[in-house]
Parts: sequence; structure tokens; C-alpha cells
Amino acid sequence: MGGDSQQNWVLMVTAQTPTNIAVIKYWGKRDETLILPVNDSISVTLDPNHLCTTTTVAVSPSFQQDRMWLNGKEISLSGGRFQSCLREIRARACEVEDNKKGIKITKEDWGKFHIHIASYNNFPTAAGLASSAAGFACLVYALGKLMNVKEDESQLSAIARQGSGSACRSLFGGFVKWIMGKEENGSDSLAVQLADEKHWDDLVIVIAVVSSRQKETSSTSGMRESVETSLLLQHRAKEVVPKRILKMEEAIRNRDFASFSQLTCTDSNQFHAVCLDTSPPIFYMNDTSHRIISIVEKWNRSEEAPQVAYTFDAGPNAVLIARNRKAATLLIQRLLYYFPPNSDDLNSYIIGDKSIAKDAGINGIPDIETLPPPPEIKDNIPSQKYKGEVSYFICTRPGRGPVLLSDESQALLNSENGLPK
Ligand code: DP6
Repeated sequence: MGGDSQQNWVLMVTAQTPTNIAVIKYWGKRDETLILPVNDSISVTLDPNHLCTTTTVAVSPSFQQDRMWLNGKEISLSGGRFQSCLREIRARACEVEDNKKGIKITKEDWGKFHIHIASYNNFPTAAGLASSAAGFACLVYALGKLMNVKEDESQLSAIARQGSGSACRSLFGGFVKWIMGKEENGSDSLAVQLADEKHWDDLVIVIAVVSSRQKETSSTSGMRESVETSLLLQHRAKEVVPKRILKMEEAIRNRDFASFSQLTCTDSNQFHAVCLDTSPPIFYMNDTSHRIISIVEKWNRSEEAPQVAYTFDAGPNAVLIARNRKAATLLIQRLLYYFPPNSDDLNSYIIGDKSIAKDAGINGIPDIETLPPPPEIKDNIPSQKYKGEVSYFICTRPGRGPVLLSDESQALLNSENGLPK
């Protein structure tokens, strides 16, 4: 074989990884570089059909440097978090042989060869949904496959954790716990699956992407300020979360929605209380977020048992978890009643699993305009509406963990030159 053909090959792998939403929140680090948390957290993985990151990683002797493209734009890999993930995964790389292509990469080669990474989110980054969680999980998962890393998902999660804390929970589908760990080197701070996505498949998730003008404090700096100034955070991490984690695990095990929703809502509210207890205070929720909480609380209290749980991360978007499909259709009716769209395009106002809106009898804008007020407010003063406060809704459900995409047409890099397609 000529030297040229040996230098021109490109080997690549494409993977798809979901995002996740915490129902017991991670907020606060005990080690900033290793990203070690002050408490355990629990999350639900969201269906990657609606929210996910796709990443292609490639290696070739012809690459001059490590490069990365995010949503088509080249970004810098010089940040410490990228470097930690690349270093940790390279340290575990094993020999790779592709007989068909006549490629052999030894353990030592991985230290010399450069890689190209292209990543794409199937949801708008501007929506403020946790894109770093799916992103770092996908980067680590895809590189692990490319470099024939033998570690299991939990061990990979401890690497993804060093990219972004919440990313470690995206290595699994269903319900996931990030165990905070005790070791100083972080080796036992990793994610484990509590139950897969089939365990509790009645649940339906509706995300209200709330319009907001202001740029929020990033999670990273927000939690740093909370650790430095909030006494409530200390109390939460030491006394509250450990007990709550046990109760949440039990609620998930027993599919006990009443307990699940009570714990989820309380924990979200305590996280935002910690933000208020931070000096200077951090406000992630806005008036629209508060309205959504009131609507859900009022409805839940008018029923015999809770129908919907709410949770909010470091921004105003509401993640609403309905106990089943019936509750989800009643939820969508309520949300559309209070938050009619600004435009007349229903198709872009409800995205994801559109069948839930159809079940709720919503097939067009006129169906929204004629929705009756929810019965739980019938004795009150005619309720106000808040047109335009929600940008759009995403209907989804709990979903599976990372997968490889073996069809080369789904790759984001060109197999000839390793550059974005
Ligand atoms: C409110 O994982 O984004 O979403 O570890 O600094 O990258 P870094 O922070 P990040 O924080 C997520 C915080 C949260 C709660 C959660 O997902 O548990």
C-alpha cells in the first residue's frame, strides 16, 4: 500500500444523546475543576426524538489540530472542560483495527492523532434548554466508541461530568441518579440508571419555552455564588436532599405520582429559594413562570390527586410532567387557554409529539379561541389571558439513552476529508 493512501483515511463515529431534566436538583460544587457536586441529584431523560444532540467524531492522520463545529459554526476547544474530557477519554483509548479500510491505530497513536468533532442540537439553543448536558454526554460517548474505550456508561459519565455536571446524567435513559461520591479525585462521582424509560411510560412531558428578554446568570457562576453566600444551600445539601433522594427513588420505583410530583415541585421551589438566598439574589423564574406554577397548583388542588408536576432550571422555562396522557391533554387545554399564541401558526406553537394537542381537540387556532375557562377558576373573577408570554410548547416523554447512528448519511462530517458536510 502506498504511503499516500495510508495517510488519507478518515475514521468516524456518529452518536445521538438525549438531554435530561433534574427532578432533584444539582446546585453547588465542592470542586470546581473536577465538577464534584455538594449533593446527589435525580433526573428524567427526555425523548431524543424531540430534544437531543447528534455528534460526529473523526480521526485522521491528515488532521493538523483538534477542531470542533457546533451547529455548523467552528468553536474553540481550548476551554478547560473540553480539554478535561479529551484528556480523560484519550487516556483510556485502545487499539482500533478496521480491516476493510486497512486502518490500524495503536494505543500510542491516539496521543498523536488529532480529531474533528461536529455537533448539532435538534432544538434551538436560544430556547435556554440544557444543551450542554446532551452536548458533553454525546462528545464523550462518541469519542469512547471511536477510540474503542472499554469503560461502561457509568465510568463514561464520570468523564462527561467534567464537561458539565448535568451531562453525566445523559449517559442513560429513563430515571438517573448522579451519586455525588466521596473521593477527592472524583472517581466515585458518577451516574447510575434507576429505571429505564419503559418502567414508567405513562408520563408525558410538556415544556413551556417562556419568552424572556434578559440574559440569565449561567448555572456555573450562579451556583458558585450560591455556594459562597447561601446558608440555605448548606442546609439543603446536608439535611434536605439526602432524605429527598431516598423518597424520590421510592416514588419512582413504585410509580407513585403523588409523591413524585410533590417532591419534584418542592425541590424545584427550594432550588429557586436558594437562588433568592444568594447574595446578590439570582432570579431565574419570571412572572410567566410564576403564573404557570399557580395554574398547576390550583388545578392539582382541585383534583383528588396531583395531575402534573412542574420543575424549572436556571431560566424561566417550565418543564411540566403529567401523570398520564389524559392529564397531559387537560394540561395542554389549560396552557393554551391562558397562553394563546401570538401568531396564527399552530404548527410551530406546539412542537414535538403533536398528537397530544389533537387528543385535546386542538387542531387550529379557532379551537384555542373557543376553549372554556378551566373549571377550577369558575367562581373567581374572569381570568386574564397572557398572549405571547410563551414562545412555544414542546410535547415529549421520558426517553432512551445514547445510541450510535451507523448510517453514514446521518454523519455531520464528510467521510472524505473530515470537514463539516
Ligand atoms: C439548574 O450542569 O449546567 O440545571 O456543572 O457548571 O456545567 P455545570 O452546571 P450545569 O448545571 C445544571 C443546574 C440545573 C440543575 C440540574 O440539572 O440538576
